[in-house]
Amino acid sequence: MFTASTTWPPSRIIAIILLSFILRLTSAQTDNGNECSCFQTNGSSAGYFTSHRFLDYRNVLSVSPKVPALLPNITNATNAFATSDFFTNDAWRNDWAIQNWNNSNDVASGDSPTLRVNSPNNIYIEKSKDTDPSYATFLTLRTARLPTFQSTGEIDSVEKNYQYLSARFRARVIGSPGACAGIFTYRQPTASPSSVQEADIEILTRDARNAVQYTNQPSQDPQTGDAVPEATRNVSIPQGRDWTVWNTYRVDWMPGMTSWSVNGVSVADIGFQAPRDPAGLCVNIWSDGGVWTGNMSTYDEAFLQIQWVEVVFNTSGPYAGPTDKREIMNRKGEKQKGCKVVCGVDEGVNVTGTPAVLSSNAGVAWNGKGSLVWVPFVLVAGTVFGYF
Ligand SMILES: *[C@@H]1O[C@H](CO)[C@@H](O)[C@H](O)[C@H]1NC(C)=O
Ligand SMILES: *[C@@H]1O[C@H](CO)[C@@H](O)[C@H](O)[C@H]1NC(C)=O
Ligand SMILES: *[C@@H]1O[C@H](CO)[C@@H](O)[C@H](O)[C@H]1NC(C)=O
Ligand SMILES: *[C@@H]1O[C@H](CO)[C@@H](O)[C@H](O)[C@H]1NC(C)=O
Ligand SMILES: *[C@@H]1O[C@H](CO)[C@@H](O)[C@H](O)[C@H]1NC(C)=O
Ligand SMILES: *[C@@H]1O[C@H](CO)[C@@H](O)[C@H](O)[C@H]1NC(C)=O
Ligand SMILES: *[C@@H]1O[C@H](CO)[C@@H](O)[C@H](O)[C@H]1NC(C)=O
Ligand SMILES: *[C@@H]1O[C@H](CO)[C@@H](O)[C@H](O)[C@H]1NC(C)=O
Repeated sequence: MFTASTTWPPSRIIAIILLSFILRLTSAQTDNGNECSCFQTNGSSAGYFTSHRFLDYRNVLSVSPKVPALLPNITNATNAFATSDFFTNDAWRNDWAIQNWNNSNDVASGDSPTLRVNSPNNIYIEKSKDTDPSYATFLTLRTARLPTFQSTGEIDSVEKNYQYLSARFRARVIGSPGACAGIFTYRQPTASPSSVQEADIEILTRDARNAVQYTNQPSQDPQTGDAVPEATRNVSIPQGRDWTVWNTYRVDWMPGMTSWSVNGVSVADIGFQAPRDPAGLCVNIWSDGGVWTGNMSTYDEAFLQIQWVEVVFNTSGPYAGPTDKREIMNRKGEKQKGCKVVCGVDEGVNVTGTPAVLSSNAGVAWNGKGSLVWVPFVLVAGTVFGYF
């Protein structure tokens, strides 16, 4: 029997001190949303999500950024090591898996004229030569046409169980015609290829510099091969901008509807074939010499460059990553009933990637600094320990 008392038993005090320490530790490694129990997006595709990730490549000072020399040998390109330690650390590997598959089956079947080989050598941290002081580095994905193959780059999320998300990518595309830069949700086909589910952002470097195509795949009729017009929208980037400059591309994959915007301006909504089942995220730049991407001239290159990625999401089923650290860091909201502290990732945000507390039911005023926020959690946890 535990009755109210001014003197707490030592075990309880130790438990609280320990817990405070753990909470301080976890908030020290926060990806900026630790004090939030759920995340709210804005606009007509607004929603609430339980988890948040902010992946920032703007000031990666732990590695010396360099552009790796191209590897002209297919075997070497496939088996290439990560271009720096940045990509072998858990901080990267918990979110992304660098791909090294090829499309030799498509080449053999005649579906694709050019061999496409994904190489870890095409994923690297690059030093910015821009004058903007807000970023010293960014993440680059590269594709290059080499004499015997197209060397390409792709990263896939380790999380394959997103079920609905809102993702934002600060990105630009530069380089020669003949490549496709893609940012998309991906659900592997279960039976025929036409059972694939995707919500795509695609930029073709052969297209006009302000043209972006948005699609809920599949975009072709599996019987006739004809384009399915309801599945896709061709859009011009608003405000006179183009994809060679930095823009924020947002996709809201919501139940029954995918919505896309650029720099906060809505550009497309597609309800037709909106993905339904749990899916991952893919980011790539590639070419296969087919009618979609076109051909790249030998030794030409194109690049998809990314400053940061912010994703709010719900999941269905377990995380399949290499460690379960994210379980502590980012899944807290899922284990709670309701949403104690509502944070916005659009509304109220002053610092990119740092959600803003919009409302709190914890009864403690939010001072915007984070120091007070763990107090209600400790009290909640303290009452739990009280039962020991
Ligand atoms: C959502 O918030 C962002 C950031 O404040 C803003 O740029 C955008 O226009 C807003 N979108 C809508 C639909 O209100
Ligand atoms: C995400 O999960 C929360 C908690 O279950 C739910 O309230 C919310 O509506 C979900 N969001 C979407 C977009 O389904
Ligand atoms: C491929 O890798 C092998 C073994 O690491 C090396 O000896 C060879 O020079 C490389 N070939 C090319 C073309 O880079
Ligand atoms: C590519 O490198 C591999 C491994 O070093 C080697 O066996 C192969 O002969 C090379 N291929 C070409 C075309 O040089
Ligand atoms: C393509 O990948 C397959 C499967 O990993 C591998 O067996 C094959 O050797 C690769 N093809 C080329 C041309 O490297
Ligand atoms: C959209 O743009 C792509 C790429 O240029 C083109 O192949 C396609 O025909 C266009 N679709 C429509 C409906 O205009
Ligand atoms: C690209 O080049 C290959 C090889 O020369 C050719 O088979 C293919 O048809 C070309 N693709 C296009 C879209 O012209
Ligand atoms: C954002 O800035 C505004 C204006 O300076 C301020 O009122 C607000 O409290 C700030 N929000 C956060 C979350 O710091």
